[in-house]
Amino acid sequence: MLSVRDLVVRFSTGRGVVHAVNGVSLDVEPGGTLGLVGESGSGKSVTSLAIMRLLPRGGRVVSGQVWFGGRDLLRLSAAEMRSVRGREIAMILQDPQSSLNPVLPVGEQIEEAIRAHERVSRPAARARAVELLGAVGIARPEEQLGRFPHQLSGGMRQRVMIAIALALRPTLLIADEPTTALDVTVQAQVLELLRDLTDEVGAAVVLISHDLGIMARMAGRIAVMYAGRVVESAPTEELFARPRHPYTVGLLRSIPRIGGARRALVPIEGSPPDLERLPEGCPFAPRCAWRIEACWTQNPSLATDDGPAHLVACHDPAEPEEVGPGRPIRPGFAPAPPPGIRAGVA
Ligand SMILES: Nc1ncnc2c1ncn2[C@@H]1O[C@H](COP(=O)(O)OP(=O)(O)OP(=O)(O)O)[C@@H](O)[C@H]1O
Ligand SMILES: [Mg+2]
Repeated sequence: MLSVRDLVVRFSTGRGVVHAVNGVSLDVEPGGTLGLVGESGSGKSVTSLAIMRLLPRGGRVVSGQVWFGGRDLLRLSAAEMRSVRGREIAMILQDPQSSLNPVLPVGEQIEEAIRAHERVSRPAARARAVELLGAVGIARPEEQLGRFPHQLSGGMRQRVMIAIALALRPTLLIADEPTTALDVTVQAQVLELLRDLTDEVGAAVVLISHDLGIMARMAGRIAVMYAGRVVESAPTEELFARPRHPYTVGLLRSIPRIGGARRALVPIEGSPPDLERLPEGCPFAPRCAWRIEACWTQNPSLATDDGPAHLVACHDPAEPEEVGPGRPIRPGFAPAPPPGIRAGVA
């Protein structure tokens, strides 16, 4: 349904070139939910904006393909792309504040979204808007139509965003952190709603979140991003049971246990690489406890290791017995020192 191939996106800034996305490949099945996870700055939002061809100024797709419905979206004319957006692919942006028009009542914004793509009368569009607001769980929807975004709670604004996104029954919905701004109970409600509505419409979903708990509940498949690449991708249960990339292993260990001590959410020591100066080898090597010499010089490609459904980009991925709960990872293993530094010399 959606197939992204080797997507490369760069930003030209006053200071230099930011290598934001460095060869992302993704597949989403019809009706399926793909979860995209990864630390802040790993390229989740830029990837989705590139798919929608909504990159901000300075951003440019350098290479790659975005196959959707038999066409490469990157080759469509601007007019063709406008008709894909909203009608076939809808997106809920990371920051709902900036995507709702502050000076327009929410009812009008929903009606506008409908009328931009369908020839319907104003009263008919209005009736649909009422129906949609009801469907996203907003009480007394007729009364809410005339309200401005700032007059609604964060949870209600998020629901309005979902209503707009689903107004045209898209076949694909890209939801970028759709609930981050909300408190936990409202978050759960909004996510359930999102799942029910997309199930009803039969839409496929790309769900972006750094919350692995949300992913476990919502996604059928998860792709883990690091430094602008997918480093591991597998069906959700498989990924949780048998993570193979050391970065994924670290991420999973950082999930706070219910009833247990809440552990830090940044699981792995060190910080992501400078995207203006990417290293030659694997970008995770400097933080990796398992790195071997090849990791300093060759960036591993995303490949199957055991079964076509499980992809991992690592020279020496984890074996299942190495990632059991609480067990030390590779006891006694000494990570390869950077090239030029001899092992054993401090
Ligand atoms: N307009 C821009 N100009 C320059 N660099 C940008 C721009 N937008 C994003 N970037 C860079 O691209 C990289 C990827 O950013 P992106 O927003 O995709 O991260 P993300 O994974 O969505 O993070 P988060 O979890 O914080 O939302 C970052 O290094 C970011 O600084
Ligand atoms: Mg983002």
